[in-house]
Amino acid sequence: MPITCPFRRLFRICLLAAAASLAGSAMAAPGERLDDRYCTTCHGADGRGNEAVQAPKLAGMASWYLRLQLENYRAGIRGAHPGDIEGLAMQPMAAGLTDESIEDILDWIGGWKVIPATPTISGDVAAGAALYRTCATCHGAAAEGSEALGAPALAGQNDWYMVTQLENFLAGARGAHPEDIRGAQMRTMTAVLGGEQDIRDVVAYINSLTARMVE
Ligand code: HEC
Ligand code: HEC
Repeated sequence: MPITCPFRRLFRICLLAAAASLAGSAMAAPGERLDDRYCTTCHGADGRGNEAVQAPKLAGMASWYLRLQLENYRAGIRGAHPGDIEGLAMQPMAAGLTDESIEDILDWIGGWKVIPATPTISGDVAAGAALYRTCATCHGAAAEGSEALGAPALAGQNDWYMVTQLENFLAGARGAHPEDIRGAQMRTMTAVLGGEQDIRDVVAYINSLTARMVE
């Protein structure tokens, strides 16, 4: 693992760069009507997520959260930190979106079929359940999310994506921008996570909540 990981990450970054140029060619030239439907190039058919380029599942995502994140990327509030490799790839994908195209995208994504993500990581589910008690106050007992608290649903999301996000919050690569109020709230919460093992355990527990969605 320690040997293959960096290479695997490098490989994904190369793929991501290739996908970005592909999506870039689908984006409109200045003055043309913006074609905003290049998202599935990275996020996969039906927006089910694509681990090869580290793009998470979008299908089933609440529109209030989707809108906030697209606005944050567009404004450079998210995806601008040099340590946020995947965020840096997504940021230019949102940079050219108008308010109108964001609304169009929300409508479009709202019609996608929702397939809960397949687990790829393992951890100590019981230890994760204990850690998750803190998380539940915002994300909900079933990880269903809370619009009032700005906390997205976690159940059903790709586990590899959640691991990266927790690592990024912990490292200050996400949630450190002074205007990222919600991101900062989440960032302080990662204080309950001691490191990589805790991250895997809590995500393994979230996977068990995803499994309940499928039952
Ligand atoms: C070049 C590949 C690529 C394209 C094209 C792309 N994305 Fe992304 N997207 C990513 C990656 C990689 C991430 C993970 C970024 C991170 O870790 O912050 C991401 C993250 C996101 C997120 C954050 C999800 C969350 O749970 O917080 C949203 C929302 C999103 N993308 C929407 C879109 C939409 C809408 C489009 C089309 C307009 C699009 N993306 C096009 C690669 C892409
Ligand atoms: C105080 C409320 C609060 C608590 C407690 C909390 N979170 Fe969050 N979390 C948030 C908010 C708000 C966001 C959205 C941040 C943003 O807008 O960028 C978030 C985002 C996330 C994300 C990124 C999801 C995505 O789609 O990009 C993950 C993963 C996450 N939280 C996991 C956890 C875990 C695990 C815990 C417990 C250790 C936890 N959260 C505790 C409020 C909270």
